[in-house]
Amino acid sequence: MQHFFKNNRKKIIGSLKEEKAIIFLFSGKAQHKTCDQFFPFEPNRNFYYMTGIDKPHLIYMAIKNGDNIDETLFIERYDEFKAKWNGKTINEEEATNISGIENIKYIDEFYQAISTSIFRNNIETVYLDLENRYLDKSNRAFKEAELLKENYPYINIKNIYNNIGYLRLFKEEQEIEYMKNAINITKKGIENILKNANPNIMEYELEACFDYEIKRNGSKDKAFNTILASGQNATVLHYEDNNDKINDCELVLIDLGATYKYYNADISRTFPINGKFTDRQKQLYNIVLEGQRKVIEAIKPGLPFKRLNEILLEHYQEELTKIGLIKDKSEVSKYYYHGVSHYLGLDTHDVSGGLGGDDTLKKGMVITVEPGLYIAEEKIGIRIEDDILVTETGYENLSKDIIKTVEEIENFFKNR
Ligand code: GLY
Ligand code: MN
Ligand code: MN
Repeated sequence: MQHFFKNNRKKIIGSLKEEKAIIFLFSGKAQHKTCDQFFPFEPNRNFYYMTGIDKPHLIYMAIKNGDNIDETLFIERYDEFKAKWNGKTINEEEATNISGIENIKYIDEFYQAISTSIFRNNIETVYLDLENRYLDKSNRAFKEAELLKENYPYINIKNIYNNIGYLRLFKEEQEIEYMKNAINITKKGIENILKNANPNIMEYELEACFDYEIKRNGSKDKAFNTILASGQNATVLHYEDNNDKINDCELVLIDLGATYKYYNADISRTFPINGKFTDRQKQLYNIVLEGQRKVIEAIKPGLPFKRLNEILLEHYQEELTKIGLIKDKSEVSKYYYHGVSHYLGLDTHDVSGGLGGDDTLKKGMVITVEPGLYIAEEKIGIRIEDDILVTETGYENLSKDIIKTVEEIENFFKNR
């Protein structure tokens, strides 16, 4: 993968308009949880995409000076005490092997390096990853932007978030392989849920069946908090409490994914806890499934992203009227209230870099297709979600092997 990370850096630095500029990226740090406990460390995904390294506190610096590119990675110095308590940090050789960056320095040399680089190269533009969706003032890039403005008031600070986000939309072969792996592991996790599903089980017990199976199969973590929602809970889109008892005859909505090398799967399935759909459940389920089929089959390069949701809405308007659930087209929004697709990759709701101002699908993008139907008064929530790669001529359903039709689900229960 070293070649992939090197190539990403080359493309991003090549996309800068300035003759001279500096980029700084930070890997981040573990977030504080309580007392002396921290949440597991998650590398900043743009830092990871550019270096391949998933260790905290590291800094990537690239100086662009005409055609010349000078890259440095700042790592932690070896600390014997820390090594004994928390384990060794990454060393020079490991950092170079993963990233392909030859020049390695230590993070205590960073501020001196900023000063030297800016003066020596006459730099007037600094790029930082300034995504700050949750207005988090402790964000390292945000803090560095403040410091730079204070110390070098003539410097232009620019945001590199969209440059990297746009490139991340287009998946290379190796990334697609990792996503397929994440999806395959997710498949095993889903099957383990179905094997253990029985009336009166707790939602979190079934969730545990997924967690156990994905770890057994090479996934270090979940892509996002698992949604395991029975009955009425399934009408809450991001229900994550997972702490109710599942009653006989209820439908269970699972929305979950494994990760593989930080690439995510995002799959939803809905099944009856006792293994047999009622006629009403089957009727509604098949309307959602048919809507999903129509959307997926429309996928090809050139199709506007927003068209995907329109196709589903047209389908619902017709089918929900036919079964008498709605009388007027506008009533669809009472039972379906989210978008049908999002981009998928290193983030579950993957970044898109503003799409370069063009929202049509293009080869190499991976999107979800996830129609849902939520009827609170009937205590029914249904969502079916697959992960789709846009190919040169159409699409490839990366999750096509995961059990989905009424017949497949009922047969699985009969034969388990
Ligand atoms: N799991 C969140 C979503 O499907 O978008
Ligand atoms: Mn999902
Ligand atoms: Mn999704």
